[in-house]
Amino acid sequence: MVFSPGEPATGNRTEMCRYIALEGIDGAGKTSIQAALRERLESVGIEVVAVREPGGTLLGESLRRVLLDGPPVSPWAEALMFAADRAQLMADVVRPALERGACVVSDRSVYSSLAYQGAGRALGIDRVRRINEPGLAGRWPDLVILLAVSTRTGLARQRQADRIGSSGHALLSTVAEAFDTLARQNPDRFVVVDAERPRSLVVEDVWEAVGL
Ligand code: TMP
Repeated sequence: MVFSPGEPATGNRTEMCRYIALEGIDGAGKTSIQAALRERLESVGIEVVAVREPGGTLLGESLRRVLLDGPPVSPWAEALMFAADRAQLMADVVRPALERGACVVSDRSVYSSLAYQGAGRALGIDRVRRINEPGLAGRWPDLVILLAVSTRTGLARQRQADRIGSSGHALLSTVAEAFDTLARQNPDRFVVVDAERPRSLVVEDVWEAVGL
């Protein structure tokens, strides 16, 4: 990363910042780690925009309700709604934030669609990638931190399972395998962190991955 803490906020600020995504199966602890990472980044003077997928825009929050608590949704309708949510978030929040030099820390990203819809719903990772590409317009996360937990831990940690998270062990283990494969295929973009450990240790590894 082209950044050293304390460096004046001049010049090409977008160079200093990154689009960081936290990924993992349901119950991996992304939301709590996102809060910790945000605090750390802000403590060194970096503006952070924290977002979640699905959600983060008016359209996105409506889609979130439909996707997570609504009526049955066919696999392709599900994949297309996640892609629509992401396209809106990219246009309204992520791209403007990156352009003004903020860092974006996202709870999930396009990689969730590849893992859940591409692999979990068996739609095909390449086909799901293709429906997402127009909305992303080339803006993939710079860094993906994969919080790795076993499906048993993930299921046990879920306080209130949503429509997708409650699909059970088989879906979650397919998703977990897909995340592992994606991480192996993209070693420059992914860092895998063992999130079975106490939160403080996980936060330290995440901070190291961010590399400030
Ligand atoms: P979470 O944000 O609380 O983890 O809940 C989001 C749920 O939506 C979770 O079960 C994963 C699922 N999901 C997908 O299936 N595909 C996606 O592209 C995204 C962003 C989430």
